[in-house]
Amino acid sequence: LVGLPGNTLEKIRDCARYVRARTPLVPQIVIVLGSGLGALADDLDDAVAIPYSSIPHFHAPRVVGHPGRLVMGTMRGVPALVLQGRFHYYEGHPMDEVILPIRLAHHLGATSALITNAAGGLNPSYSPGDLMLLEDHVNFIGSNPLRGPNPQELGGPRFLDLSEPYDPEYRAVLASAAAELGLPPLRSGVYVGVSGPTYETRAEVRFFRSMGADAVGMSTVPEVIAARHLGVRVAALSCITNLACGMEAGALSHDDVMVQGAAAADKMRRLLVTAVPRIAAL
Ligand code: 6GU
Repeated sequence: LVGLPGNTLEKIRDCARYVRARTPLVPQIVIVLGSGLGALADDLDDAVAIPYSSIPHFHAPRVVGHPGRLVMGTMRGVPALVLQGRFHYYEGHPMDEVILPIRLAHHLGATSALITNAAGGLNPSYSPGDLMLLEDHVNFIGSNPLRGPNPQELGGPRFLDLSEPYDPEYRAVLASAAAELGLPPLRSGVYVGVSGPTYETRAEVRFFRSMGADAVGMSTVPEVIAARHLGVRVAALSCITNLACGMEAGALSHDDVMVQGAAAADKMRRLLVTAVPRIAAL
C-alpha cells in the first residue's frame, strides 16, 4: 500500500509526535482559518505556533494570504488547535494530505471542528462581507478524501452517512452568538465545493444555482468529510468575499477575496471567540 493513502496512519503519528514534543496541550476543538481570516490565532492564550514547513508531511504554504502555521493554545479557556492556512486540492496535494491536519487534530484529541473559508456568493440576495453558516454541501471537487483504503485503525466507516454533516446544535450556538454580538443575521446555505484553481464560468454559475447552491468555494468539503468520518462534530462558516462570476461587474480576483476577507475577518473573529466556549460545553 506504499504510495496509497493507506500509509496515512504513519503520517498522522509522525505529525502527532512532532506536535506533542512542542506542546502538552490536548485540543478539544480544531479551528481552520481560511483566506484572510488568520488573525483569530491572536485570540489564543499561551499560544505555541509551529510553522507547517517544519511539521513532517506538512508543506510550506503556497497561496498568498495563507500563513501556514499550526497554533495551539486556549481560547476563552478551551484548548484549541488552530490551523492558520490549509492545503488545497488545487495545489496538487493528494487528498490524504489535504485532510491530514484534521486527522492530526482528531488524533491529538479534538472532538469538534470549526471550519472557515472564503467563498463566492451564488444566492442573489447575498452581498460581499456576509457570513454564511453551511447547512449542507455539494461535493463537486471530483474526488473524495475517503477514496482508497479505509484503515481499520482510523476507526471510521467504509460508507459514511452524510445526512447531517453540519451539527444543528453548533449552528444554533453560532446564530445566537451573532445576534448577541449585534452582527447581521448569519446567512444559512448550501456550499458547493469545486476543485479550482479556476473560478467558475457563467454557465457553471447558472448550473450551481439551479442545483440549489448558495455559495461556491475551493475547500472545506474534504475537511468536513474527514472530520465526520472520525465522528468529529462540525460547523462551517463561509465569508462571502465576492459574488460569483457574472453576478457583479468586473473579473474575479484573489485580491478581492483578500480585501473582503479582511473586512469580514473581524466579524468572524468575534463570532468564533464567543461561540467556542459554548460549543465546547455541548
Ligand atoms: Cl470558487 N468562486 C468565487 N467567485 N469566489 C471565491 C471562490 C470561488 N473561492 C473563494 N472565493
